[in-house]
Amino acid sequence: MENKKMDNYSVAVVGAGPAGLFAARELAQAGAQVALINRDIKAGGLAEYGIYPSKLKMKDGLRRQFQQVLALPNIEYFGHLSVSLDDELTLSELQEMGFDAILVTVGAQGTKKLGLPGEDLRGVYHAKDIVYHYNRLPPFAQQQFAIGKHIVCIGVGNVMADIAHWAIRELKVDQFTAIARRGPGDVKFTKKELESVIRNLDQAALDAEFERCAPIMRAVGQDPDAAKAFILSAMEGAEEPVSQTRFSFQFLASPHRMLDDGKGGVRAIEVEETTLAARPDGSTTANGLGTYHEIPADTVIFSIGDRVDTGMGLPLDKRGDFAKNPEPRFPINEISYEAYNPEMKQPVEGIFLAGWAREASVGLVGTARKDGTNAAQAVLSYLSTIQPRTEQPLEALNAKVEMLQKPVVRAADLKKLEVAEAAHAAEFGLPEYKFASNDEMLAVMGLARQRETS
Ligand SMILES: Cc1cc2nc3c(=O)[nH]c(=O)nc-3n(C[C@H](O)[C@H](O)[C@H](O)COP(=O)(O)OP(=O)(O)OC[C@H]3O[C@@H](n4cnc5c(N)ncnc54)[C@H](O)[C@@H]3O)c2cc1C
Ligand SMILES: NC(=O)c1ccc[n+]([C@@H]2O[C@H](COP(=O)([O-])OP(=O)(O)OC[C@H]3O[C@@H](n4cnc5c(N)ncnc54)[C@H](OP(=O)(O)O)[C@@H]3O)[C@@H](O)[C@H]2O)c1
Repeated sequence: MENKKMDNYSVAVVGAGPAGLFAARELAQAGAQVALINRDIKAGGLAEYGIYPSKLKMKDGLRRQFQQVLALPNIEYFGHLSVSLDDELTLSELQEMGFDAILVTVGAQGTKKLGLPGEDLRGVYHAKDIVYHYNRLPPFAQQQFAIGKHIVCIGVGNVMADIAHWAIRELKVDQFTAIARRGPGDVKFTKKELESVIRNLDQAALDAEFERCAPIMRAVGQDPDAAKAFILSAMEGAEEPVSQTRFSFQFLASPHRMLDDGKGGVRAIEVEETTLAARPDGSTTANGLGTYHEIPADTVIFSIGDRVDTGMGLPLDKRGDFAKNPEPRFPINEISYEAYNPEMKQPVEGIFLAGWAREASVGLVGTARKDGTNAAQAVLSYLSTIQPRTEQPLEALNAKVEMLQKPVVRAADLKKLEVAEAAHAAEFGLPEYKFASNDEMLAVMGLARQRETS
């Protein structure tokens, strides 16, 4: 692809998480003009507001890379600006402004509600909100969560492990129980992520769970000893415990309903007991047995992955992800990055998807980065098949932003925010400091007055 050829094309990248940032870099380096539009004031998405706060080295390394992306001359950053059907800007408006292509990298902002009785009780939460809260993303940072002393967490992936880390090492709750609908052979967390909490594990309870699950596991060809060895392998690099929290697992249990304490809060979760069935591909599925039991809890956190935000207005597939063109015109490694309308059986012209917006809650930062870069390649291939449009979309977007009743944050503003947060961290002797509200961030960037007067 010749760089010069791309100079006359403009692309809107919606979402500045790892997928959007690395896609923007790829597009900009090919010569395209890029508008990078982000809901949050800061760029980084879950790399900033998901990765566990104590992983400072990793977060700082990523921040430095993101700063380099935002410094590229042909990337214009628009932070604190949402694109969706009920926000200040829609995808259709961006198309009307004259962007030649739009790459949607907004992550998976929808909540995977299961529709269970009691899901709206006080004390019942979904992991994303909690993760955003302790990572200080406004408005979740200021929101009050009724976290008690006995947390039951549904799901056994790395997000559960992060929430266990927070509950056991920061909140120092009495009990943290992780519930899996399948068995110990199907856990999704990694050894590394369990190291911070494994020393709190109730090993007698784990032994009892393995004794109960072993025959069911063997019946589907799983090795209980290997599964147990995997969980306990986290002991090698285990961190010293800092609380008396009792950490335990309950396997073969699927959430059924949350029970009311009579005052609008949760007092227990009722789970359906399950057994394992083997699938033809060797994986397992959980089959409900129609028998139930209660697990006392004053807090229930669903850590079962997220789904895409239907408010974007893009068509969905049967799984609830944004639909992708099943016969992509611009595949990269046989993957389709093209938004698709299944009803019309045709691509949504000029709109592409990457990262967790393409596949919700799948993979690490590195996966999102690669996906963004590949999606940008797909966009560049598409652009090479069309004539650049004659409108001036960046001018139109800037004009729109001028008319909005809120300040939009630019890359230069973010520099001021970095300086202010670093100064606070130094003043309080903290490894890092994050303002908990948008108002505070806007004030230190000198944008609050503009908001009051506009
Ligand atoms: C709790 C947690 C911990 C994790 N820890 C790790 C880890 O330790 N190491 C690791 O490698 N990976 C980790 N991951 C995975 C990693 O964070 C993701 O793979 C990656 O961030 C996904 O990138 P993305 O760009 O697709 O989406 P996101 O990171 O979610 O970014 C989406 C961006 O889109 C913006 N946006 C959303 N809606 C709109 C809208 N309507 N308009 C405009 N902008 C919008 C958001 O502001 C955000 O900046 C973790 C994930 C979670 C949930
Ligand atoms: N430190 C890190 O590196 C880190 C930290 C956090 C997240 N991440 C990454 O982010 C991604 C998302 O992580 P995640 O933990 O949200 O997802 P995940 O790894 O897919 O785990 C989701 C868990 O929820 C369970 N689940 C899903 N639907 C359920 C339902 N309806 N009822 C009961 N249980 C249900 C799953 O069980 P089944 O297996 O039976 O479906 C699984 O145990 C992963 O790629 C992860 O590695 C990485």
